[in-house]
Amino acid sequence: MSENIIYCFSGTGNCLDIAKNIARELGDTDIVMMRRAPSVTDATGAKRVGFVFPCYGGGLPGGVEDSLKSIQVSGDAYKFAVCSCAAYPGTGLATVDALFHLDYWEVLSHQCSCIWLFPHTLMVPPLTAQGAQDRSEREAKRIGRSVKALARSEKSPRANPLNKAESKAFGKLAGGKAKKFAVSSLCIGCGTCAKVCPKDNIRMVDRKPQFGTDCLQCLACLQYCPQEAISLGSITQKREHYHNVNITADDLAQSVIHVD
Ligand SMILES: Cc1cc2nc3c(=O)[nH]c(=O)nc-3n(C[C@H](O)[C@H](O)[C@H](O)COP(=O)(O)O)c2cc1C
Repeated sequence: MSENIIYCFSGTGNCLDIAKNIARELGDTDIVMMRRAPSVTDATGAKRVGFVFPCYGGGLPGGVEDSLKSIQVSGDAYKFAVCSCAAYPGTGLATVDALFHLDYWEVLSHQCSCIWLFPHTLMVPPLTAQGAQDRSEREAKRIGRSVKALARSEKSPRANPLNKAESKAFGKLAGGKAKKFAVSSLCIGCGTCAKVCPKDNIRMVDRKPQFGTDCLQCLACLQYCPQEAISLGSITQKREHYHNVNITADDLAQSVIHVD
């Protein structure tokens, strides 16, 4: 087993990019993806155990809390977490803290992948996608150095009751919105959408995607489609597409990524 393990959920690549940048600072790190059930749940041999995830609708992405509950960590391990969000981290850090008693945690704002709500220009301060990426890389490297030095946070993360309610409602609403996905004639049947869907919610039938209702609204399918053939209602057609510039669809489909 590697010296360090980072458990990571990522829809449009920001969190995987952050996890990789932290891992490069640490060396000898396995990044275990939590998009589906994690393939490594025994982390008792790791010296540092990290969790990197986005805020989705005020909380953890659906299914992540259950995945976290399956992970065993040594009482002596150093535990840290990073929440990536557009504006506010919601309840995720407090949930992870309740399970693992974090030594260190950080919030890292990154360009929002839910572009129909927060286009780039609504980011505070307004940033280009490249500007947000540069900031994220700088911050992730700083966090990586802090984790290497076993830094400690002074306070525990808090969960705002409003975010708790938001997260509960978001989880219920997200699946229903999947009915609004549409696929245009630009689709070439490559299956990238099915590959990047963290919930295995897309089936290719006659080389066309069919969407189920187990959807988190991460929009990885729409954002990674090489033909920009997928839309969600009318609003996404008017927005620019976004996924993390360093993370490919193949990266997201891995179950473990080792960084030396
Ligand atoms: C479905 C969805 C819901 C989101 N909800 C929030 C939110 O409640 N608060 C927030 O500040 N950012 C929110 N965001 C922004 C993401 O947390 C942020 O862009 C993050 O970097 C995405 O990471 P990823 O690319 O690894 O999935 C949301 C994004 C998506 C796709």
